Amino acid sequence: MKHKMAIVGFGGMAGWHHKEIQTIDDLEIAGIWDIKEERRAVANQKGLHVYESLEDLLADPETDLVLIATPNDVHKPVAIAAMEAGKNVISEKPVTLSSADLQEMMEASTRTGRFLTVHQNRRWDEDFLTVRNILKEGRLGELFRVESRVHGSRGIPGDWRQEKEHGGGMILDWGVHLLDQMLLLFPGVSIRSVYATWTHVTNQLVDDGFSAELLFENNVRALVEVGTSNFISLPRWYVLGTDGTAVIEDWDLSGRIVRASGVDEKDVMPVITAAGLTKTMAPRRDDSIFTEELPKARSDVREFYLNVMAVLEGREESRIKLPEVMRVMKLMEAIARSAESGEVVKEIL
Ligand SMILES: NC(=O)c1ccc[n+]([C@@H]2O[C@H](COP(=O)([O-])OP(=O)(O)OC[C@H]3O[C@@H](n4cnc5c(N)ncnc54)[C@H](O)[C@@H]3O)[C@@H](O)[C@H]2O)c1
Repeated sequence: MKHKMAIVGFGGMAGWHHKEIQTIDDLEIAGIWDIKEERRAVANQKGLHVYESLEDLLADPETDLVLIATPNDVHKPVAIAAMEAGKNVISEKPVTLSSADLQEMMEASTRTGRFLTVHQNRRWDEDFLTVRNILKEGRLGELFRVESRVHGSRGIPGDWRQEKEHGGGMILDWGVHLLDQMLLLFPGVSIRSVYATWTHVTNQLVDDGFSAELLFENNVRALVEVGTSNFISLPRWYVLGTDGTAVIEDWDLSGRIVRASGVDEKDVMPVITAAGLTKTMAPRRDDSIFTEELPKARSDVREFYLNVMAVLEGREESRIKLPEVMRVMKLMEAIARSAESGEVVKEIL
């Protein structure tokens, strides 16, 4: 069966979808709609059909799927209109701006019987999947802390991402990916508390970075951090267990695992610093540790589209479940509440 997808909003991300979809059998782009003349012209140059209006796009009986790649505030109204016009919907992330908005979208999906999903493509990030492998293997002993960070130094991008009314800010932009990944590392484990701070280094209207500390019911603490004024980046992932530590430096999967070998260190050489000496912080003796390769994961993000088509054909369940998306939305709201009040938010999420 061939599926035809129409795209609403033909900016940067829609260009990426266009490129990926060209490599997928059974999925075709029927056309696009964008409110900007210049973006419609770009689509035209690429040989894509350009609809006259959103209404024209939604009235096309040939399409069964609408992909929404507009600024974040536009996702909800377009998604609801598309489902009411009988279309299945893929919304870009973040699905919308609040849990109440998502609730409305989910109700529209139930009412119309149309499929609604979200492009949580970073579930296919190889660094994230590698951390999942590390946790599954249990090589680090009992896990007690996971840190996940992305750092850039160019501030918040100078487009709608700087404006609150369009759903700007880094919690909604990058936080939504990193929090989704963190929750997937601990399936079925509740969060007991959230403490967060945010930054306004380059922008006063929305957060241009944040740091959130989550305490899971199993006593694992997780740190999720996004920074846009960081000229030196900290590692993408840092994972700590009772018997070892793993680091993934970057998206290129550089990194390592260091584990205790079980050899007792009786004669630790202290480190002499200018103002004193320490055994506690002295480096490990070589024979007391193993340094190991990361269990690197490989992935193909096109599985996202294949899964959407399989769901529409009744062959598979959706890989991105709306209750999971809702949980991330509520977690982002708890993070905003903590950052605003300066207090720990204690609620079971
Ligand atoms: N999943 C990912 O990895 C990823 C990466 C980047 C962006 N995104 C998401 O994709 C979406 C778009 O981001 P972008 O970087 O492409 O932004 P962009 O500004 O490059 O593109 C948005 C486009 O939407 C158009 N638009 C605005 N309002 C519209 C409306 N009412 N109807 C039709 N078109 C409209 C704009 O003219 C623009 O061309 C956002 O939700 C963003 O969060 C996702």
